[in-house]
Amino acid sequence: MCGIVGYIGSQQRAIDAVLNGLTALEYRGYDSAGIAFLDGETIITNKQVGRVQALRDALGDDKTAMTAIGHTRWATHGGVTIKNAHPHYNSDQTIAVVHNGIIENHVELRNSLRAQGYIFVSDTDTEVVSHLIDLYRRSSKTFQEAFEQALGQLRGAYALGVITAEEPDVLYAARLSSPLVLGVGDGMCIVASDPSAVMEHTRRVVYLNDYEFIRAERDGTYHIKDFKHSLPVSRKAEVLDYDATKAGKGDYAHFMLKEIYEAPYTLRSATLGRIRVESSTTKLGGLENVTSQLRYIDRLVIVACGTSYYAGLVGEYLIEEIAGIPVEVQLASEFKYRNEPFSRSTALLAISQSGETADTIAALKKVEDYGCLRLGVVNTVGSTIARMTDAGVYCHAGPEQAVASTKAFIAQVTVLTLIALHLSNGASKLYRPLLAELDALPKKAETILAQAASMKRLAKKYAHYRDFMFLGRGYGYPCALEGALKLKETSYIHAEGYAAGEMKHGPLAMIDPDFPTFAIATHSPLLEKTYSNIEEIRARQGKVLAIATEGNETIARLADDVIYIPETLDQTSPLLVAIAMQLFSYYVAVTKGYDVDRPRNLAKSVTVE
Ligand code: M6R
Repeated sequence: MCGIVGYIGSQQRAIDAVLNGLTALEYRGYDSAGIAFLDGETIITNKQVGRVQALRDALGDDKTAMTAIGHTRWATHGGVTIKNAHPHYNSDQTIAVVHNGIIENHVELRNSLRAQGYIFVSDTDTEVVSHLIDLYRRSSKTFQEAFEQALGQLRGAYALGVITAEEPDVLYAARLSSPLVLGVGDGMCIVASDPSAVMEHTRRVVYLNDYEFIRAERDGTYHIKDFKHSLPVSRKAEVLDYDATKAGKGDYAHFMLKEIYEAPYTLRSATLGRIRVESSTTKLGGLENVTSQLRYIDRLVIVACGTSYYAGLVGEYLIEEIAGIPVEVQLASEFKYRNEPFSRSTALLAISQSGETADTIAALKKVEDYGCLRLGVVNTVGSTIARMTDAGVYCHAGPEQAVASTKAFIAQVTVLTLIALHLSNGASKLYRPLLAELDALPKKAETILAQAASMKRLAKKYAHYRDFMFLGRGYGYPCALEGALKLKETSYIHAEGYAAGEMKHGPLAMIDPDFPTFAIATHSPLLEKTYSNIEEIRARQGKVLAIATEGNETIARLADDVIYIPETLDQTSPLLVAIAMQLFSYYVAVTKGYDVDRPRNLAKSVTVE
């Protein structure tokens, strides 16, 4: 989704800083980019449809400025055009605004501003902001006062960056429900939608909360104000623990491939210091401060979106089987509008890679006053969800850049397994075997990655199909849903995930020689039932690509093709199945020549509803 960057400093490097920041935010997904900077007391702008590189090329080498804001736009209101690209202005171009989020009352504001003579040049919701500040500036004592008054009128979600010709030495930024971080360095300040854009300059960051704005100056001083309560905010900068070398693509052709190949490391990192196989113990430091509350929960509701939701479904099976606690998994976008009974003994667990997904944040906000425990399984340290929850467990997967989530799923499921073990208090008979298996998984993951060449061959064989069915039972069912999502988002192949037992209730009607099935048939108590489903598909001339456990000869007779994974427990099978399915989807997308890391229409971090 859109990304914003704003820089102010005593040296003339604001344009490069903003362009580099925008480059760091490219992974979020965007379709156009723009920049505004101050040349004396004049605001200069450049906007381009396409990549940040186009902006760089257009600006050339002569790039000096001390104050600048920039934007990568992922179209929501209005088409992908230069006029809709940010920054947006007031009529005399003395105020420039960049925005991530959605101004929900933009129609109402636009009508009222139009009635007062304001002329709009774009189709965006954002343009109301620049005109609104302009309107209030006519009667306010200072620019800041006008900015605050405008903020008071905006509904929806925003991270805003604002500059004005009136105060060339000042950068303003504000936040409501969209991520915003301030990086603080020597004689400079940089604001951005996520820390990756500030890392080049500083590791000292301040995370903004809702209803807060920043006024930053050229010498690096800044003030934060809570504009809802009109109070100054004093918050110390935190030092980011971030290894920039992990953020690059290295020798891999795509981020997605690199992130799939990080699976062994991801598995290790998610359990590091948290499991002790010799003594059969687990330690989840992030849950220690809520130990007593956890004892009293009698139900867990998991909320998440997309891949994180499917990880949550695996978590449901795990927590119910291992800890005996009833679990319900809900799509965050549905949960937030549902009227359901919710008692204080129910805990809410939000799962999110980015920690910035608008729907998941809204789900957490919904229960704010219920008095229930709010937990998080989050990858991005310091993100909004990580900060909103009472307690939680970080995934420690490192930055995930490809839009298609891969290693984050592996880390989420691993962490959910740890949470299930933790909640079982050692009472489950699966406790010891699971600990031992978690320890053994990184090596097993490596053997799947070593099959890349045969996966590539299979991808070539199946890439031309327009439809795909993914089937699984038990722990294989959420895997089937996730496998279908991965294939459709990277390869634009229509793919459906189904519980294998549901086939006869409708989907079987779709099966013919042009509608292949990816069947998850790893060792499990339900394997024979899955065989029957495969037989039913074959009887209708459907092709079957199965994923099975090494040594299974029956499947070789039943399926057209088989991908083998090492023997593992039923409960840990999703971790290995997922790696194989991710590789398959990756190679199908490559075969089809698609932009694997940035699939069309999608953004990495979905920060608006
Ligand atoms: O950052 P989150 O985990 O909250 O994101 C949730 C979904 O947007 C995300 O998993 C999405 O479905 C991915 N593109 C899937 O690969």
